[in-house]
Amino acid sequence: MLEGTKINTPSQVSSIFDIAKDTVLFLVLSCYYILESLFWTLVPNVLRPMKSLNGDIILITGGGGGVGRQLAIKLARLGAKVVLWDINKEALKKTCSALRDEGYEVYSYVVDLADRTAVYSTAQKVKIEVGKVDILINNAGIVFGETFLDLNDAAIETTYKVNIISHYWTVKAFLPDMISSGKGHIVTVGSVAGLLGTYRCTDYSATKFATVGFHESLFTELRAHGHNTIHATLVCPYYINTGMFDGVTPRLMPMLEPDYVAETMIDSIRKNEVNCIMPGSVRYLLPLKCLLPAKMCWDLMHRVMKGPQSMMELKKKPAVV
Ligand SMILES: NC(=O)c1ccc[n+]([C@@H]2O[C@H](COP(=O)([O-])OP(=O)(O)OC[C@H]3O[C@@H](n4cnc5c(N)ncnc54)[C@H](O)[C@@H]3O)[C@@H](O)[C@H]2O)c1
Repeated sequence: MLEGTKINTPSQVSSIFDIAKDTVLFLVLSCYYILESLFWTLVPNVLRPMKSLNGDIILITGGGGGVGRQLAIKLARLGAKVVLWDINKEALKKTCSALRDEGYEVYSYVVDLADRTAVYSTAQKVKIEVGKVDILINNAGIVFGETFLDLNDAAIETTYKVNIISHYWTVKAFLPDMISSGKGHIVTVGSVAGLLGTYRCTDYSATKFATVGFHESLFTELRAHGHNTIHATLVCPYYINTGMFDGVTPRLMPMLEPDYVAETMIDSIRKNEVNCIMPGSVRYLLPLKCLLPAKMCWDLMHRVMKGPQSMMELKKKPAVV
């Protein structure tokens, strides 16, 4: 009986009114957001206002090889002061000499991202020797490519430490200065394998799914606390021709080239985009996994895309102990 009267209390009425008001406002704003998004999709990049990276200090983890090297070269050409972290000293040297040959300033540090203490101490060195990091690109990644029962425990732990846990240490090290200066950008490199579970990737895919959760939660916290000038971008590329997935021959789409991936990532950073999935067509396939029956998804993956079959060709990686 009393339940019915509750609805007429002033607080209930005002809360219903508030919900209705917020919903109407949301619907009106949604029309604007959709039109804005359509407009910017149709406008070519050359006509679009993009943020300048000139003079920015940009730290790239895994900057010695693959996509990291392409990012370093392209960002230096845009006037950024590039800081490279990598475990591979030779790869770092190669990237640094490519940059110095073109006359650019570059800072490089040999660091194992799986080692928390090393990450924190190297971050401290960067702050002293180079300055405040404006953009952090958590790009380094590792894959062992074994089926679940063949994965040894050390490989699983290393994959987690490098692909996701290190993001906590680097972001903790550099985000506070970004917040106090009111300028910053955290770029998280995930993967399409972090949106769709992948054969021989129970560890790799899981860490890449974790990057999605990390990015989305961090973005939510930044916006909820009003840090609107600190940006966050999640990058999820399909296979890239860097050697990480050597031997794999995807059936429907060829591997992406590292040059294209780096260029697309930089455009996305300069537009302050929240998500960057490449190629863009993958975005339209993703909702299918929630909408279609599971048997149909498996058939699409196995019969049409031949995803697991192509991953069976992945070349063996050196074992970890
Ligand atoms: N290659 C692909 O098909 C593909 C697809 C989607 C996403 N990705 C992601 O893109 C990013 C770049 O991949 P890539 O293809 O350029 O890989 P890559 O293997 O060519 O380069 C990765 C770099 O990270 C460095 N690295 C590895 N372990 C490290 C550690 N413990 N400490 C410091 N540095 C370490 C390596 O030395 C290397 O220079 C990764 O996060 C990867 O997971 C790659």
